[in-house]
Amino acid sequence: MPHSTTTESTITVHPVTPPSGSTYNFGAELRGADLENLAESDKDIIIRALYENQVILFKNQQNLSPRGQYEVTRLFDPLAQGYGHGKTLDAKRSILHPDLKTIPTQSEVQVIGNGPVASFEGLKDIKLKHPHHKTFHQDVISDDEDRENTRFYRWHIDAALYDLDPPKATTLLAVKVPKTENMNLRYDDGSGDELKVPRGSTAFVSSYTMYDILSEEDKQFARTTKVQYAPHPYIWMSPAKSRSTGLGLHTSDLELPASSLPLIETSKIKTLPMCWRNPVTGKLALQIHPSAVQKLILADGTVIDDLKEVREIVYRLQRPGIAPSLVWPVDWEEGDFVVFNNRGVLHTVTGSFLEDEVRIFRQCNMAASDGVLGPEDDA
Ligand SMILES: [Fe+2]
Repeated sequence: MPHSTTTESTITVHPVTPPSGSTYNFGAELRGADLENLAESDKDIIIRALYENQVILFKNQQNLSPRGQYEVTRLFDPLAQGYGHGKTLDAKRSILHPDLKTIPTQSEVQVIGNGPVASFEGLKDIKLKHPHHKTFHQDVISDDEDRENTRFYRWHIDAALYDLDPPKATTLLAVKVPKTENMNLRYDDGSGDELKVPRGSTAFVSSYTMYDILSEEDKQFARTTKVQYAPHPYIWMSPAKSRSTGLGLHTSDLELPASSLPLIETSKIKTLPMCWRNPVTGKLALQIHPSAVQKLILADGTVIDDLKEVREIVYRLQRPGIAPSLVWPVDWEEGDFVVFNNRGVLHTVTGSFLEDEVRIFRQCNMAASDGVLGPEDDA
């Protein structure tokens, strides 16, 4: 009998069990993977696991090389380009600029975190700064409450949203994680909603659930409405301030006018469906970057371009989906390697660190080689 050329994968998939009181239905731990040496059968399991679970976690990956991380990220889009958050990184005025540093030997991988780092992967004497909500939210938690209390910093999709297509997957490796007491995450929107989160947790919600819990009328609206993103959105929004939930911006006419932005090429402006189809399960995600949206285009062609109204509509649709019970705040341990379906979840930084608390993460994503699937597209 001829030998088979395919080997069976050793990888097993273990869905995350939410703690009591939580009802989120995504996330899985994958065990038995050698990420530097993946067989074809392993790759198939990982890709399917991502699209079925949205966030997949591999423990004890502290030895994963930047190259290995890049290769895992590319599994989901082998033709992807080297820009995830986009060329906006070069623009000093972009709100994304201060948070990212690139690894010299693997330019698709960035270092994020907090505190002074003498040497890491070819970078010398860098100073990392964990984003703090006080730099972005309109009103903030007072200094004396700040060590115990936090907010969702900014719910988002990793995407340039101008010219380039949203990355399919983002990978995060927790290299150094200071472990301290949990924090109390406050919504501060009058709802009384709160959530216990490990300090520095990355919080995820499923955009499939966000869609599923809408009324039938809102589902119909979401399936037939398109979202037009602002040109150079991260520069455009840079003076504007966030809602206390981190889910979109207040409207005080602070956004930069076109005359203050880099050259706008109309062909590069992104108009995307409000709902994106999962390529494996076929499910629809209500997937909107709430801060970058500028206009809505309705089924009958009507354009809603009143920014306040646009944001109110998007907020009303998205806010139920970030209820405390639906949020998975990841409790990072060193060596945790997470891949998330960037087209099916929203995520945000939380927490705050003291200036000298050192935390190091490696992040990788790449602009996609093709556009998102909309409600009309087949999985
Ligand atoms: Fe992100």
